Amino acid sequence: MSSSFKLDLLHRPRRLRRSQALRSLVEETVLRPQDFIAPLFVIDGKSAPEPISSMPGVFRFSIADLVKECRSLWKLGVPAVALFPKLDKRYKDDEGTAAHQEDALILRAVRAVKKALPEMVVMTDIALDPYTSHGHDGILTPDGRDVDNDRTVEALCRMAVLHAGAGVDLVAPSDMMDGRIGAIRQALNSRDFAMTGIMAYTAKYASAYYGPFRDAVGSAGAAGTHHLDKRTYQLNPTNRREALIEVELDEAEGADIIMVKPAGPYLDIIRDVREATSKPVAAYQVSGEYAQIQAAAKMGWLDLDRCRVESLLSIKRAGADMILTYFAKETAAELAR
Ligand code: PBG
Repeated sequence: MSSSFKLDLLHRPRRLRRSQALRSLVEETVLRPQDFIAPLFVIDGKSAPEPISSMPGVFRFSIADLVKECRSLWKLGVPAVALFPKLDKRYKDDEGTAAHQEDALILRAVRAVKKALPEMVVMTDIALDPYTSHGHDGILTPDGRDVDNDRTVEALCRMAVLHAGAGVDLVAPSDMMDGRIGAIRQALNSRDFAMTGIMAYTAKYASAYYGPFRDAVGSAGAAGTHHLDKRTYQLNPTNRREALIEVELDEAEGADIIMVKPAGPYLDIIRDVREATSKPVAAYQVSGEYAQIQAAAKMGWLDLDRCRVESLLSIKRAGADMILTYFAKETAAELAR
């Protein structure tokens, strides 16, 4: 082919990709610090931040350090945090009774953050897994082979009322029991917490990507395995339509925000859910998504900064209004530069 070969083209999409300025003019998706919710782990006592080996850069914080971390997130423009407690093994039992203590670690953490930063959105998981010795999200049936749906929902309602009393803006039921959104809404309303919102883990899949999180809260350690089988309550990764059934139910039961989880491997579900609801849609970029990018970067196989941003952009482009991500702080810091 000769070098003078010229195509007489009307359309050359590359025209708009020629410079950074042109590219920025036609940008369709923009990440902002306000898009992020930072998941944070909290422990009792005064120890220094504890690293989590499968989540480089993520720590378990004492309440004092947690408040400091929230302050720096707030300064960077991150408006929200999702708090997760890690309990010592000796406080766990079969029924997760520690979840109902008036002075539970999570409640003290919520009060401390709300006192220091009253404007910051604080949310907490409503599920029993940090509290149960078996690591499941609820109370088991007598034969120990399944989670008892209705008894678990009753426990979740009590938990939600306690968390609302401590001042959370949103409770986030992450257990996938049937009917829990409606029951929690009623429990909150009947206790004068009509303004406490619900971020529903609506389409939460039975995913292997939760492994590192289970190290972080010790639910894997408690159960003696990372591969805890939650398939009787979390969604089957093979299914799309089933997510839409859950959306319909959670909306009807009063969810304020609809969540899809994990995010990256479920971008099609985020898009489906975006199209199925007018409620805000959240997506949770889970621990395993974070860990795989970190691990590949450590090996020198991926560029951490660029993959971090690309992974988050993809989730937003798929239709998420907000993203729970362990990359919240670094990304917000980078956006501020
Ligand atoms: C538990 C809960 C899990 C996550 C959030 N809440 C794990 C699980 O269902 O076992 C996962 C978060 C992550 O992997 O980052 N109710």
